[in-house]
Amino acid sequence: MQKKIVFTVNGDRVELSVEPNLTLLDLLKGQLGLIGTREGCDSGACGACTVIMDGAPVLSCMTLAVRCHNRNITTIEGLAHDGKLHPLQQSAIDHDAVQCGFCTAGWLLSAKVLLDNNPTPTREQVRTAVAGNLCRCAGYQRIEESILAVAEGRAKVQE
Ligand code: FES
Ligand code: FES
Repeated sequence: MQKKIVFTVNGDRVELSVEPNLTLLDLLKGQLGLIGTREGCDSGACGACTVIMDGAPVLSCMTLAVRCHNRNITTIEGLAHDGKLHPLQQSAIDHDAVQCGFCTAGWLLSAKVLLDNNPTPTREQVRTAVAGNLCRCAGYQRIEESILAVAEGRAKVQE
């Protein structure tokens, strides 16, 4: 039997009925058209599907949509504001931290949670924050550098 849920995604209120076994990933991509969230392993191992729920990173492939009731969700579509990239997005571009891009949405959101909670992380803390986001293009060093550049105020910011 479908269950009604009400939640916020990227600042917009959403109200709809979902099957109890629907994942948040399928809700976002299939029903809400937020296709920036990536589906990799679909089993909790790669981090590509990471989104933010009430300020914490969650794996949307392992999260039931019904858990979103009364929660705030941020997806990669919610990172840029007023046509301006988030500093983490700009820094990823400037540091060539994006290759195929499959992991990018996931680690950007993990990094956002880190910097929201700890604006001056160490390299080790950055590494730990994105440890669950696998990058098959082996771009880990560039990813770390791009996050640290934002934390240390070295990254360019779009005016
Ligand atoms: S697709 Fe969710 S962890 Fe890999
Ligand atoms: S850039 Fe290709 S998986 Fe990370």
